[in-house]
Amino acid sequence: MAFKHDVIEKNSILLLVLILLVVSVGGLVEIAPLFYLESTIEKVKGMRPYSPLELAGRNIYIREGCYNCHSQMVRPLRDEEERYGHYSLAAESMYDHPFQWGSKRTGPDLARVGGRYSDGWHVAHMADPRSVVPESIMPGYPFLAQTPLRTDDIAAHLSTNVLIGVPYSDAMIEMARQDIVAQADPDSDGAEAVTERYPGAVVSNFDGNAAKLTELDAVIAYLQVLGTLVDFEAYEPEANYR
Ligand code: HEC
Repeated sequence: MAFKHDVIEKNSILLLVLILLVVSVGGLVEIAPLFYLESTIEKVKGMRPYSPLELAGRNIYIREGCYNCHSQMVRPLRDEEERYGHYSLAAESMYDHPFQWGSKRTGPDLARVGGRYSDGWHVAHMADPRSVVPESIMPGYPFLAQTPLRTDDIAAHLSTNVLIGVPYSDAMIEMARQDIVAQADPDSDGAEAVTERYPGAVVSNFDGNAAKLTELDAVIAYLQVLGTLVDFEAYEPEANYR
């Protein structure tokens, strides 16, 4: 076999054809099975679409480019799991369009930051990260607390997500504008309806300013839900994913 190799090496067209042949075998072996799997995303209990306030926060997260410094995927490696918790499941980002997995970690991974800090900590941290983490190099975002949250277009954001497969119901879209306000106001009449429609949603006066719904309310609502929806005490990986 080896003695004929010089023929291939001296004939670039033949070399090219043979390279393509070898590479396509590799491609077939990796890609073809995906067409026979019923689903590449394992269904997991607890996952639901983002509530209107969380979705608005996510949009601000993307607008401000937080993903340039933060990933949202805990890799299945021991050091990652010890630091951040259970490795991320595909299902945990199934309603993310676009996903925020990322590969750049100037700051820590945020996939499981929900519930790790109090709302008050986030308020201080977002205004001036060095007030709570003296060595932080994260920029402050003090304007979020001053900027009123836009709510008139939230129903349209939900409808757009429906177009790409996120299962928001008609009722969710209809009530979106009410829900976005109610989630940041625990005393409001609509607060209970938010947790009924979006189980596991945190209802809180996130930014500490009850009088005004701000972009900071939305960002903190989003941060506080990240990685909290799946109950890993009860989670069992499906046999073929083990
Ligand atoms: C220039 C890079 C950079 C950008 C941009 C950035 N961060 Fe950070 N972030 C960091 C660093 C570094 C830390 C770790 C130090 C600290 O806690 O401040 C951090 C920490 C955090 C933490 C605490 C995480 C933990 O587990 O302790 C949160 C929450 C956070 N950032 C949210 C955000 C949000 C929301 C945005 C966008 C509005 C953002 N960051 C933008 C660099 C960045």
